Amino acid sequence: MALKVVALPGDGIGPEVVREGIKVLKAVEETYGLEFDIVPYPCGGKHYMETGEEWPDGAFESCRSADAILLGAIGYPGANLPNGDLAGAGVVFGLRFGLDLYANVRPTKLYPNVKHSIHGVPKQVWEPGKVDFVIVRENTEGAYTPIRGSLRRGGVEELAVDDSVITRKGAERVVRFSFELASKRTGAPLDGLKRVTCVDKSNVLQGCRLFRFVYDQVAEEYPGVERDYAYVDAFMQWMIRKPEAYDVVVTSNLFGDIATDLAAVLQGGMGLAAGGNVGDRHAMFEPVHGSAPKYEGQDVANPLATVLAVQMMLEWLGERKKKRSLTEASRVVEAAVGAILREGKILTQDLGGKAKCSQVGDVLAERVGSMAKSEG
Ligand code: IPM
Ligand code: MG
Repeated sequence: MALKVVALPGDGIGPEVVREGIKVLKAVEETYGLEFDIVPYPCGGKHYMETGEEWPDGAFESCRSADAILLGAIGYPGANLPNGDLAGAGVVFGLRFGLDLYANVRPTKLYPNVKHSIHGVPKQVWEPGKVDFVIVRENTEGAYTPIRGSLRRGGVEELAVDDSVITRKGAERVVRFSFELASKRTGAPLDGLKRVTCVDKSNVLQGCRLFRFVYDQVAEEYPGVERDYAYVDAFMQWMIRKPEAYDVVVTSNLFGDIATDLAAVLQGGMGLAAGGNVGDRHAMFEPVHGSAPKYEGQDVANPLATVLAVQMMLEWLGERKKKRSLTEASRVVEAAVGAILREGKILTQDLGGKAKCSQVGDVLAERVGSMAKSEG
């Protein structure tokens, strides 16, 4: 039976990178005898400016009945809702909240031969193999809880409030998700120990105290996984100085939003950072980078983050549907990405190359086919 995948290309470079992601999915289809029913919907800020809606009627319901969702990016200059919110954010948050996608899973892995750009000079600062951790960001509450507003608009007494809510249920499920993930992984590169680091600001914030308290309770159930704690400010420097010490990191929504952009530097930039928004029933996969409108339509964006998001989608589907061919396909897609990076010939400009976005997609699709055949 065909698996339904809703594709939401969105704004800016979103459509270009999603097109390449779908190319890879098509290659998987042919190679593994799988069938994907890809259902696209327009959405985002530009779509809002043109139509007055962030996505068409029925698109959310279609996502709810899908086996998985692939999102490109949302956000367009000047596209705002009447209340000032970013037009298109309703799609991202509509899915995260509406489908209860409580774990935002963002792997940080440095592949061999990838150069990072620090001071604008691309060089290898961190050793590949020593950067391989996953940040699990709580995705449905914290500072993103939609309890916010302004009082006394204008004037010297103007005031704006955002409430940050942490619930026992919200903390417990994301912490348990993280310990389950650590149980399946091979541990931190430093010492091979399975470890879940709780990143919070419990020296100041009450919600973080609850988060850490619940973390400790859940940790009791996983004696084989080491406990580890870090305040978010300190974590930001330890993550950069000693990435090999981390395996799985669990944190609240806003801290996770910030930490994952910084973490992307360790893996060669946002062009390589993929994420999965995962719940108990549904999941949406996306590149972590945004819509980058200045690169729109030039075919220069790096599609690898989206391809790695597709890889995560295949892995999740494989586990959920108990289908080995999906899991196998996920492994081969990752191997194909690794090979292209290692060879260093077909790279987009963010990685110091000259290749077009579509060229990288073509090569990858071809590789997925040939690698699967040579192994099978
Ligand atoms: C992310 C993004 C989103 C977020 C934006 C686009 C609303 O930064 O997925 O990290 O803040 O969650
Ligand atoms: Mg972000």
